[in-house]
Amino acid sequence: MAPVMDSVASFISREHQLFIGGEFVPSKGTSRLDVYNPADDTVLTTAAAAGAEDIDAAVAAARAALPEWRALPAARRAELLWNRGTRITELADEFAQIDTLNNGKTTADAMAVDIPLVTGLLKYYAGWATKLEGRTITPMGGSNFHVYTRREPIGVVGAIIPWNFPLLMCGYKLGPALATGNTIVLKPAEQTPLSALRLAEIIREVGFPDGVINIVTGDGPGAGAPLAAHHGVDKITFTGETTTGQKIIDAAKGNMKKMSLELGGKSPSLVFADADLDAAVEGTFGAVYFNQGQCCIAGARVFVHDDIYDEFTQRLVDRVSQIRLGPGLDPDSTMGPLVSREQQTRVRGFIDSGVEQGATIVSDAQSPVPEQGYFVRPTVFTGATADMRIMREEIFGPVAVVGKFSDEEQAIAAANDTAFGLCSGVWTRDSARVHRVAAGIEAGTVYVNTYGMFDPAVPYGGFKMSGFGKELGEESLDSYLQTKTVWVNLD
Ligand code: NAI
Ligand code: MG
Repeated sequence: MAPVMDSVASFISREHQLFIGGEFVPSKGTSRLDVYNPADDTVLTTAAAAGAEDIDAAVAAARAALPEWRALPAARRAELLWNRGTRITELADEFAQIDTLNNGKTTADAMAVDIPLVTGLLKYYAGWATKLEGRTITPMGGSNFHVYTRREPIGVVGAIIPWNFPLLMCGYKLGPALATGNTIVLKPAEQTPLSALRLAEIIREVGFPDGVINIVTGDGPGAGAPLAAHHGVDKITFTGETTTGQKIIDAAKGNMKKMSLELGGKSPSLVFADADLDAAVEGTFGAVYFNQGQCCIAGARVFVHDDIYDEFTQRLVDRVSQIRLGPGLDPDSTMGPLVSREQQTRVRGFIDSGVEQGATIVSDAQSPVPEQGYFVRPTVFTGATADMRIMREEIFGPVAVVGKFSDEEQAIAAANDTAFGLCSGVWTRDSARVHRVAAGIEAGTVYVNTYGMFDPAVPYGGFKMSGFGKELGEESLDSYLQTKTVWVNLD
């Protein structure tokens, strides 16, 4: 097992406070969040549990910082974002360990995915800060007016993020919000506040003006709900469960906040008979089990053509049996624990429901699972029907449900038989089929002969009950900007 770095141990042992107005300040209340190490079920430390008064203070700080931040040359905003990305790269090992200790993910995954993506996207949006332009429009009814648009920041952004990619989710929100000249109050998930708090230290170091970024730790009802309802917040950006997203819509309506919601999924993977089977097995495996299955894009409903169903399923089961469960700090572990006791109980509940409702576990049901920590045995189900909970609800754990289809039409119908529409995977060598299926699937992203690709330049976001508003890419900027039209009479 890799030893915990001294700098990480020293960071974790600090007395964690709220980051408001450029300072670490105590919460106005006394309640604290216990912060766990999911690999061994121990309390690592505690963090402040912010309440409504703390949210008021953070929103006030963000509002006060707005004029200075908007007036700053775009080149300086770009530089600050870029420098923060660089600093995260310099501290990559430290951040990776913090997220491993607090979230459970393997350090290898954090180093391969979370860190490069977060630094990449901060740098990508640093580039956009200097390229936000309006348009000049000639009105169709005549040209004695000069009409132009300005793209202005919306104001104070409230960001509420989940625990599955703790540092990376901070970047998803901070990159575009700041590049476009907004200020922000960010609430990490109560389970995983630590990397966001370490990020706050860097924010100070890099020299962001006070109040531009405020980080308030706390739980959903205590801190998230007052942030979503706050009349001093102009836009809310949320990633998490669909039912929480619905609560946020209700809370946000008081002052007509702008919103982007990145919600749950139940994404399908379609494996056609002509697929490259090696690639399809490996890709589908990653789609389901990466990050312990705790991915909103998890391709957890796998539909396979009849002709290759038996072979594919056997190969997927073999691949799953190679998983080595263990603490994320152990380089031999290929899968860590789930984030919390609650998630472990929830995912096990889904597995039980699958069995009770008549589906069959075809993966090794006896493989060893560490006793301490929130581990769940990676599982493959077959024989599930469309109405079962394991087919309909987001499990958010290492569970695949493999079904069959006999033709393309059936495959598309099965893919779309869900309330969600986040992602999808298609495995085939038939190029005409690729385009037919891509057009037929109701989801924000279609991966063809690959899965789970992310790039800061490529937009991503859900259809149907998976939410609205794109993240990443140029598209994300739109949801942090409002267009002002100016008509000038030339007479
Ligand atoms: P959640 O949606 O309750 O939590 C996500 C964030 O929302 C956290 O920061 C939380 O503090 C905040 N929050 C909770 N209630 C709130 C409220 N009323 N107002 C404002 N903010 C609030 O997700 P949870 O309970 O941690 O996980 C439960 C399930 O949700 C998971 O098993 C999974 O199925 C799904 N989930 C999906 C995610 C995704 O990216 N699609 C991410 C996290 C969870
Ligand atoms: Mg919840």
